[in-house]
Amino acid sequence: MSAPLDEDGANMTSTGRNSTDNATIHNVAAITVDPQIQYDIDNDVDTDYSDRELNDATFSVTSTIYNYREENGRTYHRYKDGAYLMPNDEMEKDRLDIVHHMYLVLLEGHLTLAPIDTEKPLKVLDVGTGTGIWAMAMADHLSEDSEAIGTDLSPIQPGWVPANCRFEIDDAENEWTYDTNHFDFIHTRHLSQSIRDWPAYISRLYDHLRPGGWIEIAEHGLRCYSDDGSFPLDSPLALYTEKLCEFGRREGFLVSSNPGNKLKEMVIQAGFTDVRHVPYNLPWGPWAEDERLKELGRWAFITFKTGAAAYGLALLTRVGGITGEDAQRICNDAINTLNDWRLHVYNFHHFIIARKPMPGEVVATV
Ligand SMILES: C[S@@+](CC[C@H](N)C(=O)[O-])C[C@H]1O[C@@H](n2cnc3c(N)ncnc32)[C@H](O)[C@@H]1O
Repeated sequence: MSAPLDEDGANMTSTGRNSTDNATIHNVAAITVDPQIQYDIDNDVDTDYSDRELNDATFSVTSTIYNYREENGRTYHRYKDGAYLMPNDEMEKDRLDIVHHMYLVLLEGHLTLAPIDTEKPLKVLDVGTGTGIWAMAMADHLSEDSEAIGTDLSPIQPGWVPANCRFEIDDAENEWTYDTNHFDFIHTRHLSQSIRDWPAYISRLYDHLRPGGWIEIAEHGLRCYSDDGSFPLDSPLALYTEKLCEFGRREGFLVSSNPGNKLKEMVIQAGFTDVRHVPYNLPWGPWAEDERLKELGRWAFITFKTGAAAYGLALLTRVGGITGEDAQRICNDAINTLNDWRLHVYNFHHFIIARKPMPGEVVATV
């Protein structure tokens, strides 16, 4: 009998590199383990986590949307209550900013892999901007007559921002109020647990981008792997990610082991050209020999300490019907798995970069 495959064709019974038949992923170099790594398996997790009728239009922030939903010691957005299942509190804002820094290390200081010319005036959109840290950093790189706009369901962006940067509260899954053929560059990162209808979303990116403009979609897979079999499939971390995949899929999110190929296909289907898929494997913990990967692993390890509950709590309780206490335990057990750096765990991060063709341009569809 052949092994069960997940929706991306990845073999679910193996943890090794052969566990996916995704050809692009095979091109990612395996991570060499640091032979000198000191193990810190007693580093137990801190379990104390207790720490308007609006239609489709974009609107400026009013006090009503600051009424957050409180649940299992975390707060969640109120505008379009329930649309997004991750928190919007200080702990989550800190996590998002650390992830932003981790991506700067991953991209060697660059904010994007898209070949945009920041010397020219540009209109840039960052959808689902979170704390707005990417949009503000991009605005700093742009000329004064450029504009970087960040949109989000939650008003968690700072008030003091560069003059060429602004934020709007908007649901990216509704019709956009921006003109079509408007933006030079649209950036979207870590929205796989946000957007339910990805083909419609990508069509919207296409419509609102000017011909010749670029998009970058950055997403990561939920499943973890190890190349040397050190990550057991029955570990609490593996069980946690399986549950997240199961409940996320039930909720309609694009959760998968490796969303890169799927996203690339959707981007091609939407009519984009010059489509590139750049995958990275990112260690969870400082176990890699290479210094940059070691640093990335440290950041990944830190972000998962709060990220486990951020990704898991509402999904496990609201969608999976698990009690808050059990959900917290599942998250904590997953974190404790990761405290053992002898497990050479990593996951995949995917960047899809693509250009909207010029009128009359012939686009290859294969
Ligand atoms: C995981 S965070 C990523 C934030 C940011 N892109 C980053 O990389 O730091 C996802 C963000 O998308 C926002 N979001 C979720 N659903 C959304 C929607 N339908 N429209 C706009 N924003 C949404 C959430 O409020 C959250 O701030």
